[in-house]
Amino acid sequence: MVGERSELDIGATEMGTAKFLGFGLRAQTVDDLERLARHEGVAVEDLQEPGGGKVVRLADPDGYRLEIVAAQTKTEAAVLRPDPLRNTVASRSRLRSSVRLEPSPSHVHRIGHAVLKVSDFRLSEKWYKERFGFITSDEVEAAKDAPIGAFMRCDRGDKPADHHTLFLAELPGAPGLAHAAFEVANLDDLMLGHPYLQTRQRKAVWGVGRQIMGSQILTTGKTRLAMSSNIGPTAISSRAPMRHKKCR
Ligand SMILES: [Fe+2]
Repeated sequence: MVGERSELDIGATEMGTAKFLGFGLRAQTVDDLERLARHEGVAVEDLQEPGGGKVVRLADPDGYRLEIVAAQTKTEAAVLRPDPLRNTVASRSRLRSSVRLEPSPSHVHRIGHAVLKVSDFRLSEKWYKERFGFITSDEVEAAKDAPIGAFMRCDRGDKPADHHTLFLAELPGAPGLAHAAFEVANLDDLMLGHPYLQTRQRKAVWGVGRQIMGSQILTTGKTRLAMSSNIGPTAISSRAPMRHKKCR
């Protein structure tokens, strides 16, 4: 599966029993991959997927497969869908023009984040931070001083990063993927996708609404593996301090 951003894979389905197999991260350089491979005592392999490049394959503390890739040949980014002018109480920028939208699925631009249910939050947090430099944006506590998970972002220095790319949490039920989120073109696109999924018996389990932590607007649909569509997550640089949030 590809998004509109490029022709590189953002998702893959394999034949067999429905279950989560793993996910991928992109390293900045092949040097980064080689350093990681040396640390883990594994090989850097050629990636036999669209875009080619190199890959290091690991398993995390819960046995989830990780593919860390670099040096893929990037394809041209798609022309972005325009964000239609929107009239509000403060301004009337759309004049004498109507908005007529045809029913359609949302148009995925890129994968936004993944939420993994882990068996030991602190163990997984340490494992991911040591290897990939994730930074905690918000830590979630079941009670005071009882952390159960964290929204974590990529360290891009002064460049803003999404509020979370990975959310690790000790949640009820068996370990696995709680959901994957895909960033779609704009608010209209999100709002079209929501009823479209419902006409295909994909029950919404959350939204449309705004997420408290990352502030993105989203809808979450229940499939064998839950998927959510979202737009506009908060952008944060590496210097922003960690916050604590208690579960309700
Ligand atoms: Fe999410």
